[in-house]
Amino acid sequence: MSSTTLKVLFTLIISAFATVKITMAGDPNILTDFVVPQGLSSIDGSFFTHTGFRALLLGNPQPKAFKVTKASMVEFPALNGQSVSYAALQFPGGSVNPPHTHPRSAELLLVGQGSLQVGFVDTTNKLYTQKLQEGDMFIFPKGLVHFQYNADPKKAALAISAFGSANAGTVSIPGTLFNTSIDDNVLALAFKTKVATIQTLKKSFAY
Ligand SMILES: *[C@@H]1O[C@H](CO)[C@@H](O)[C@H](O)[C@H]1NC(C)=O
Repeated sequence: MSSTTLKVLFTLIISAFATVKITMAGDPNILTDFVVPQGLSSIDGSFFTHTGFRALLLGNPQPKAFKVTKASMVEFPALNGQSVSYAALQFPGGSVNPPHTHPRSAELLLVGQGSLQVGFVDTTNKLYTQKLQEGDMFIFPKGLVHFQYNADPKKAALAISAFGSANAGTVSIPGTLFNTSIDDNVLALAFKTKVATIQTLKKSFAY
């Protein structure tokens, strides 16, 4: 094979991989303009409208604890197949959104009010952290463990997060470990601690 043929072959192989990567970056492609739920016969503009964020953007009511309000395809069915969604995050002073991951999407967070201490940990256990002010954005890469904390005890914070999936999913680390039926011995061995310590941690999730 001539070196030119080799070069062409090489370029073709590389671009084939690049194409695969692009296709896999979001939700599966749909073959229609949009997806209408079964049983819904006629739709108009209201199908493409979601009003669930009105009250919280006006600041009422203020929650007493950290609160997430999602606008994913569950709450807003027109998002099905469009590979986008939002979540509104409300932080009373001193509250935290505990470490969690979104298995199907990166998260682009925009601080609308107050300030937030945010961070994520990469697959080498390196922590990237930042203090954000009103108007700042932060990107949490897809699948990585991250958190947000309103360190100001007096001022509430509000953030809007955009996702590149209509159903990004959330895996809460404390809940996944201590609010499921994973055997106490497994957790004690994993955390190199006593079963009693695991049971104490699990108790805070009892309801
Ligand atoms: C623990 O899990 C149950 C069942 O999924 C859920 O209803 C409850 O809210 C969880 N508790 C906490 C504190 O997250």
